Parts: sequence; structure tokens; C-alpha cells
Amino acid sequence: MAAGGWAPEPRVLLYLGALLAHWVAAGLEDVVIGEVHENATLHCGNVSGPRGMVTWYRNDSEPVLLLSSNSSLPPAEPRFSLVNGSSLHIEALSLQDEGNYTCQEILTVTRWFRVWLRMASGPYQLEVNISSTGILPNGTLYAAKGSQVDFSCNSTSWPPPMVEWWFQSSTYEPLGNNLTVNCFALLQMSQNLQGNYSCLAMNMLSGRHRKVTTELLVYSPPPSALQCWAEMPSGSFLLQLTCRWDGGYPDPDFLWTEEPGGVIVGKSKLGVEVLNQSQLSDGKKFKCVGSHIVGPKSGVSCVVQIRRPSLLSEPMKTCFVGGNVTFTCQVSGAYPSARILWLRNLTQPEVVIQPSSHYVIAQNGLTSTLTIHNCSQDLDEGYYVCRAENSVGVREVDIWLSVKEPLNIGGIVGTIVSLLLLGLVIVLGLMLYYSPVFCWKVGNTFRRQDMGDVMVLVDSEEEEEEEEEEHAAVEEEEEANETEELPKERHKHGHVHRVTALVNGDLERMGNGLQDLQDDSTEQQSDITEEDRPV
Ligand SMILES: *[C@@H]1O[C@H](CO)[C@@H](O)[C@H](O)[C@H]1NC(C)=O
Ligand SMILES: *[C@@H]1O[C@H](CO)[C@@H](O)[C@H](O)[C@H]1NC(C)=O
Ligand SMILES: *[C@@H]1O[C@H](CO)[C@@H](O)[C@H](O)[C@H]1NC(C)=O
Ligand SMILES: *[C@@H]1O[C@H](CO)[C@@H](O)[C@H](O)[C@H]1NC(C)=O
Ligand SMILES: *[C@@H]1O[C@H](CO)[C@@H](O)[C@H](O)[C@H]1NC(C)=O
Ligand SMILES: *[C@@H]1O[C@H](CO)[C@@H](O)[C@H](O)[C@H]1NC(C)=O
Ligand SMILES: *[C@@H]1O[C@H](CO)[C@@H](O)[C@H](O)[C@H]1NC(C)=O
Ligand SMILES: *[C@@H]1O[C@H](CO)[C@@H](O)[C@H](O)[C@H]1NC(C)=O
Ligand SMILES: *[C@@H]1O[C@H](CO)[C@@H](O)[C@H](O)[C@H]1NC(C)=O
Ligand SMILES: *[C@@H]1O[C@H](CO)[C@@H](O)[C@H](O)[C@H]1NC(C)=O
Ligand SMILES: *[C@@H]1O[C@H](CO)[C@@H](O)[C@H](O)[C@H]1NC(C)=O
Ligand SMILES: *[C@@H]1O[C@H](CO)[C@@H](O)[C@H](O)[C@H]1NC(C)=O
Repeated sequence: MAAGGWAPEPRVLLYLGALLAHWVAAGLEDVVIGEVHENATLHCGNVSGPRGMVTWYRNDSEPVLLLSSNSSLPPAEPRFSLVNGSSLHIEALSLQDEGNYTCQEILTVTRWFRVWLRMASGPYQLEVNISSTGILPNGTLYAAKGSQVDFSCNSTSWPPPMVEWWFQSSTYEPLGNNLTVNCFALLQMSQNLQGNYSCLAMNMLSGRHRKVTTELLVYSPPPSALQCWAEMPSGSFLLQLTCRWDGGYPDPDFLWTEEPGGVIVGKSKLGVEVLNQSQLSDGKKFKCVGSHIVGPKSGVSCVVQIRRPSLLSEPMKTCFVGGNVTFTCQVSGAYPSARILWLRNLTQPEVVIQPSSHYVIAQNGLTSTLTIHNCSQDLDEGYYVCRAENSVGVREVDIWLSVKEPLNIGGIVGTIVSLLLLGLVIVLGLMLYYSPVFCWKVGNTFRRQDMGDVMVLVDSEEEEEEEEEEHAAVEEEEEANETEELPKERHKHGHVHRVTALVNGDLERMGNGLQDLQDDSTEQQSDITEEDRPV
């Protein structure tokens, strides 16, 4: 604590003030610095050689005899003694010994010498006070960033000491120069004011000094908000809870508890806790409380709630041999976020599908898709499983894939022919409607040709059916998501029925006029435009 433990030898002190000395009377006036509790020797002039009879006086209001080399005269106090026949030795000095001393020497002539004894004391009990700070268990002081800190330095010393303050930080950003004041204040503590504050008190008379160095830390609470989250470390089903509160100094402490109930999960500086599945259940909440030495007293907190995943997927899909099909599986509600796996359940245990040229797996946010290329009836038909799993639980949905034979080219040609014929009938119908005279003229021939038409239309019934299926196949590839087999079939029948109805109507209504035929044909046209939609 103090570096001023040196005890100056009386002789050193004796000559310390020599420069200040000046000649008085018959000799050189000497200045001697004495310290309380120490000894001092005052010389009777700077003279070498044999000495005469010496008598020492103290000059206050009037001279007082202290000591004489005439041994029949006793010293005024036992503290005084004569050394080397002429010098006055004073033991156990006190502040009251300060004064001017005169020595009288009687040899061949009488000479007078004067010595000024100056007394110094201290500094003792150097006290450094740094206020508005906290104290750590190891005794180190800390102040909150932005706060005001007052410094003062006091000591017992005579004459009053010179006080100096200085500051040293790890980065050597000085507070300022040496401050020769007892007290000062720092109004806004900042990080770069963290360091060692030293106060030095020096007795300018004796040169004795004491120094106290105090380490002051500047602490700041995190400026950011407390964040907490849960995640599932890859390759495990553990739950990792993480709490972060960045930017503070020193690092805050984190406490994870179960809510409600407050059962402690863990307490750390890191804020990370790992739990296994036995400690987890759907809907359970965990709370993190961050506390900082200069932060809010009750700390700040956040809560996470863990949930197992929910799944949404189509129950069945259809694929044509050689075609492609895509399954979609959507996860929701999972916290921490779930891993999605696709499995085939043809074997037991079920096998996780690995991505390949046959199986393409893609994940976009919460939705995972499995695309099967080049469907094969033997290999691919069957159940598929979409599985979502997180630390809290597992959910699965089964999807049935049926693989169908594709349709032949003949069907497409037949369909085109039948559509052309249908168009012809409609055009004819329109012509007849708009020119009734012509109608009567062709009436009979039309009726005769009609018989042939009926044959064609009835033939086309099957082709129509095939065309529909071909349509469905094309749509399957384009919009696999919308595949709904049953409605499609219903649509197919509806269409076919309407075609036969048109044929029958033609046969029956031809004689009744063309109004009915026109109605039917417009109906037919609108039906064709909407044929992709389920009825
Ligand atoms: C002062 O002088 C006395 C007697 O000569 C000696 O015993 C004592 O140790 C001295 N004290 C100091 C502080 O030097
Ligand atoms: C005495 O005084 C002389 C002349 O000032 C000086 O040279 C010498 O060093 C002094 N001796 C002592 C013992 O102080
Ligand atoms: C000190 O005392 C001596 C002897 O009495 C006297 O001669 C001298 O003038 C005094 N000096 C002072 C400064 O008082
Ligand atoms: C010493 O002091 C005594 C008593 O005061 C005196 O009688 C004697 O003459 C003195 N001696 C000298 C050498 O001055
Ligand atoms: C006394 O004289 C001797 C020899 O001159 C010297 O070594 C010693 O330091 C002197 N003592 C004091 C107290 O001045
Ligand atoms: C001793 O004498 C000096 C001048 O020679 C004076 O300045 C000082 O005040 C005196 N000390 C005391 C205690 O009288
Ligand atoms: C006291 O503890 C603080 C915080 O742990 C540390 O920064 C400082 O260096 C310690 N001081 C001492 C003197 O051990
Ligand atoms: C402050 O003083 C302590 C103890 O002397 C030392 O360990 C620490 O490094 C110093 N700090 C600075 C910033 O100088
Ligand atoms: C303060 O002053 C002392 C003496 O004047 C000097 O030795 C020291 O280097 C100074 N300290 C700083 C930090 O300037
Ligand atoms: C899960 O953690 C609890 C508490 O830490 C422990 O008692 C239990 O053995 C752990 N179970 C497994 C399977 O690691
Ligand atoms: C199936 O997908 C592959 C790759 O995207 C593509 O090359 C192929 O033409 C698709 N097959 C059908 C029938 O659309
Ligand atoms: C595949 O999943 C379905 C639906 O859960 C189930 O009925 C069937 O038994 C499973 N097949 C195998 C081989 O596990």
C-alpha cells in the first residue's frame, strides 16, 4: 500500500536543507529537517579541527539553555546529548521541537552558529474514498456505466502534503495529467475509465510519500433485449434451451426454470441447458431469467413453450406408369422446429427414403415434398409415410400411392375425330337455325344423314372416355397437387351421358324443330370449355 517506508538517516536529513542555509552571525545557518519520532543531530558549525567549550540554546521568546560541554551542567532533558564534543543529538522528536537553535563555542574566540530545525510528520493513514460504487466479494470496486463517481484522498501529514491523482488503464488512456487535488468527480463513467486510480500524498519537507491504488471496474448492463429459444441439436432428440443477453459487462447470469412451478433447470453464465426427452412434454414452458450486477434488480425474463409437430398431407395420390408424382407434407405447430422424413412402409421396419434420381426430396419452410420420377407399379405402389419429429414428439401420416397404366395414342386420335364431328353437328345446327328455308330444303337429307351420324357418335363414346383419361393423365403431371380421382371419374361419366343425350335428342327432336337442338348445342359448348372442372 505505501511505498514511503524509508527512514532517513539523521545525517541525511541534516544536510537536506543545506542549500537554503545562509550565513548568519559568525557562521553558516543550517536547516535540519527532523521527523516526528525520529532522532536529529544539529552540528555546531561546519568546522573541522579541535573544538572549544560548546553550549546549545533554544531561541524562542527568550533563549533557553539546553546542553553544555561543561559536564557539571546537566542537559535540560535526557533526550538531548552531545556527540563528537559539539553536535546536539535530539531523540524522539516531536512537532514542538521545531525552532531555531543556537550553539556558542568558546575557543580562542567566542563563535555563534544557528541551526533551524524544521519538523515534518507523515503522511500517515492515507485514505482513498471512491463513492457511489459497489464492492465485489474480492474487494474490488465497481461503478455503473453513466453514473457519477467521487474520488477523495486524505491523510495525516505536517506540513499538509501535496496530493496527486493519476489513472492507469489497460489501454493507457489517461484520465488527464497528474491532478494535484484531494478530490474530484467523474460525472459520466464510461468503459475507458475502468482501471487503476492512484492517489499519492507527498510530504514536501521530508520527501516521504504514500500511495494507494484502487482498481475500479465500470460495469454496464446489456443494452439489448433478453432472447431465448429452444432447438434440437442435429443428430439427437435432446432439447437445447439457449438464453442470450448481449452487450453487457461483465457477462450476465442466466437461470432456466420450468414454468409453472419454478423447478430449476440450470443456472449458468452461458445460458445454455440441454434436456433429454424424459423431461419434455407437449406444451411445457421454460423460463429464462437474466440477471446482471448493475441491471434491473429482479432481472429480465423470457419464456419458451415447446410443442410437438402437427402434420397435414393428402391421404392418397395417383401416378401413371412412367410418370411423376409429388407428395406434399406440411408441418405446423412444432417448437423446436421439426425434422421431416419420408419413409416407405413396405418393409418392417420402415425405411427412410434417401434422395436419388428416383426420389427427389425438397423442403421449403414448413413444407416438404417427395417427388417420385418414373413411377413403376411394382416398386412404387403402396403406402408412404411422412414423419415429422422434434424433441417433444413424433407425428406421422400415411399416403397411399396407386400407380395406373397410361393410355394409348389411338384414344387421343379417336377423341379428336369425335370432337370434330361434334363441332360439325353444332355448326350445322346453327346454320339451320339461322336459315329456316334452307332447313326445310335439307330437312329430309339431314334426317337421313343423321342415322350415319348417330353411329359415329355412339362409336365415339368409348373414345371420349379414353380422351378424358388422357386429359387426366396430362393434368396429373402438370398439377399433381390437385389430383382427385373420384371427382374426375364422375366428371367423365357426366360428359359421356351428355354426349349420348345429344345423340338421342337429335334423333327425337329433329322433327320438332331446331330450337331444341340449338339449346343443346350451346349447352354442349359451355360444357366443353369447362370440362377440366369436376361437375
Ligand atoms: C535514536 O537514538 C537512540 C540513542 O542513540 C537510539 O537508541 C535510537 O534507535 C535512535 N532512534 C532512531 C529512530 O534512529
Ligand atoms: C563545510 O563548508 C565548506 C565550505 O562551504 C564545504 O566545502 C564543506 O563541504 C562543508 N563540510 C561539511 C562537513 O559540511
Ligand atoms: C539566540 O540566542 C542567543 C543567546 O541568547 C542570542 O545571542 C541570539 O541573538 C538569539 N538569536 C535569535 C535569532 O533570537
Ligand atoms: C563549569 O560550570 C561550573 C558551574 O557553573 C563553573 O563553575 C565552571 O567554571 C565551569 N567550567 C568551565 C570550564 O567553564
Ligand atoms: C563524530 O565524528 C566522527 C569522526 O569525525 C564521525 O565519523 C561521526 O560520524 C561523527 N558523529 C556524528 C553524530 O556526527
Ligand atoms: C528561525 O529563523 C528563521 C530565520 O532565520 C525564521 O524564518 C524562522 O521563522 C525561525 N523559526 C522559528 C520557529 O522561530
Ligand atoms: C475481483 O473480481 C473481479 C471480477 O471477478 C475481477 O475482475 C478482478 O480482477 C478481481 N480483483 C482482484 C484483486 O482479484
Ligand atoms: C490494476 O492493479 C492491479 C493490481 O496491482 C493489476 O492487477 C491490474 O492489472 C491493474 N489494472 C490496470 C488496468 O492497470
Ligand atoms: C506525475 O508527476 C510525477 C512527478 O511530477 C511524475 O513522476 C509522474 O510521471 C507523473 N505521472 C503522470 C501520469 O504524468
Ligand atoms: C434424462 O435426464 C435426467 C435428468 O438429468 C436423467 O435422470 C435421466 O437419466 C436422463 N435420461 C436419459 C435417457 O438420458
Ligand atoms: C418427370 O420429371 C422429370 C424430371 O423433372 C422430367 O424430365 C420428365 O419429363 C417428367 N416426366 C413426365 C412424364 O412428365
Ligand atoms: C403401412 O402403413 C399402413 C397404414 O398405417 C398400415 O396399415 C400397414 O400395415 C403398414 N405396412 C407395413 C408393412 O407396416
